[in-house]
Amino acid sequence: MNVVEVAPGAFHLPRALSLDRQRALVDRCRALVDGEVPAYVPVVRGGGKMHVRMLCLGRHWNGQRYAYEPTRTDFDGLPAPALPEHFRALARTCAESVGMTLDADLCILNFYDGDGRMGLHQDKDETPASIAAGLPVVSISLGDTARFLFGGLKRRDPVQTLLLESGDAFIFGGAARLRYHGVSRTIPGTAPAELALAGRFNLTFRQYDHKN
Ligand code: SIN
Ligand code: MN
Repeated sequence: MNVVEVAPGAFHLPRALSLDRQRALVDRCRALVDGEVPAYVPVVRGGGKMHVRMLCLGRHWNGQRYAYEPTRTDFDGLPAPALPEHFRALARTCAESVGMTLDADLCILNFYDGDGRMGLHQDKDETPASIAAGLPVVSISLGDTARFLFGGLKRRDPVQTLLLESGDAFIFGGAARLRYHGVSRTIPGTAPAELALAGRFNLTFRQYDHKN
């Protein structure tokens, strides 16, 4: 597998997933976001609408409180759907391929349409023990290419731009765990034709707590 270390603890794995694998995952993502507990557009603290449709699996991330919870108290009160076992296995394998361990218990699944984007932020709502242990976030991209911004530990630090294409994995743990990141835009029409997907799915796997 092609592994590019973009910063200490941060790894880009271009084309980590075969097209068949991508297709199966896209089918699963489509079913999930339009399922019984559907994806929704979160309104975050301060009142801004996010520019993605979000569905949390395993645990729900509450965008009003920036905290995890079992049910969607900021939206419809429904419970977060379970994290499928093969999603967890995929996250573990990706982490292992860069020498990290991850027993993911939650995944944030986002759908970006042609106007989708996400501002620079840190992933820091997992437990302090999980973050201190440097347990990685494993990100999988499917569909349209994203311009992914990867910065430093301070918001104003310089930012590098990477193109995350369909089938790519991006993993940030260890010293990179709290680096700022975001998506400035996607590039519509770049998804592999075989996926028949207009837009982009991104899955980020995390481990809420660190068990000793
Ligand atoms: C995120 O940081 O939550 C999403 C990143 C991405 O869509 O690539
Ligand atoms: Mn993030």
